[in-house]
Amino acid sequence: MSPDQKILSQQIEQQKQNLRKTADQSRSFIELSRSLEEEVEEIIALAAKGSKVIPEVNFNDIQKGEVCADLTQLVKKRGCAVIRQVFKSDRVNEWNEKIVEYIESNQYYNREIEKRGLDQYFSQLTSGRPQIFGLYWSKPQIEARQSQELAVVRRWLNRLWDHNQSGKSVFNPDRECSYADRLRRRQPGDSTLGLSPHVDGGSVERWLDEGFQNVYRHVYSGEWQRYDPFAAAHRTETKEIPSPAVCQMFRTFQGWTALTSQGPGEGTLQLIPIARGMAWILLRALQNDVSDDDLCGAKVGRALSILPDYHQMLLKALVPIPKVQPGDTVWWHPDVIHAVENHHQGNGYSNVMYIGAAPVCEKNQVFLPKQADAFLKGRSSPDFAAEDYEVDFVDRAQLSDLTELGRLQMGLV
Ligand SMILES: [Fe+2]
Repeated sequence: MSPDQKILSQQIEQQKQNLRKTADQSRSFIELSRSLEEEVEEIIALAAKGSKVIPEVNFNDIQKGEVCADLTQLVKKRGCAVIRQVFKSDRVNEWNEKIVEYIESNQYYNREIEKRGLDQYFSQLTSGRPQIFGLYWSKPQIEARQSQELAVVRRWLNRLWDHNQSGKSVFNPDRECSYADRLRRRQPGDSTLGLSPHVDGGSVERWLDEGFQNVYRHVYSGEWQRYDPFAAAHRTETKEIPSPAVCQMFRTFQGWTALTSQGPGEGTLQLIPIARGMAWILLRALQNDVSDDDLCGAKVGRALSILPDYHQMLLKALVPIPKVQPGDTVWWHPDVIHAVENHHQGNGYSNVMYIGAAPVCEKNQVFLPKQADAFLKGRSSPDFAAEDYEVDFVDRAQLSDLTELGRLQMGLV
């Protein structure tokens, strides 16, 4: 079934009936809840002691192939990681300054006021100085995306996945597609950018779309123990409802590179570090206290909200990322619940370049020509609102700024 907004209520009712016939969804939910409660308690206990919850990996160890098996397993269990010192801080400080120049010399702020409202994803934000910038093609972003450092990191992250499906490879873990995303520059004191806990990459589709049903087949068939969040089978066959809130590419990890130091309380990321959390969210919506035509408030074309009314058990495990420094990177599985702190109480800007991991696969290769065209013309990435700020920006990255690897990642060879 493909989600159709006009008959969505009926589709949800129908689908719930189907899934309830397939397996005893209440029993599965009780069992999975017990299993996940243990993880939640473990996270709460670690956080209370001030111990590490989010796994931390040294870039050097990845480069040398020396990340121990226990740490690798922990990254898979938690579905997220901070990878330290991917870039030298001097280089990152220079990027941060160059981005300020790019924004200011091209009068981004004046242009942003004219175009306000085009980006529906953050449409509930009150007006104020922008904190997320619809900029995709500054030279520092291009330099970071095509860097050897991130190629190494993303290869390692991609390889955490089982990319086999019936003897074929779902994606090539060693080769990356570029995915142009935006910038965050968050002012100290800002309280406009907070994002409540959510998951990107699809909402009602996760219950209704055939591709997603295959991804989550073990969850829906009552064999939740067999569900592996890192099994790539069918992950590239999902059909998302087009929206600026939904990524058209398959990403093994969402992520960002820190441009400034930032930690708890400084307007940065929070995570529920439980890779299997999505299985629980799916089953939660099938329980009897949720109305038959509702999926715990999931809305078409929006991020999937995780709400206290339905998801309190998981929300107890929401933790801030540890303090990161310029050049550190943060990564989370595309099904992992995350949030952005409401209030930036620190003293400095909290800035990041969003750069995820999108390995070469058929789905991603379909996207590349559209993205390359946007790059060459300086238009917004085709996955975001068509604000097109950069068409006449001075010092925008050009084809000649791409390295050989950069061209390959953009599909421009
Ligand atoms: Fe998000």
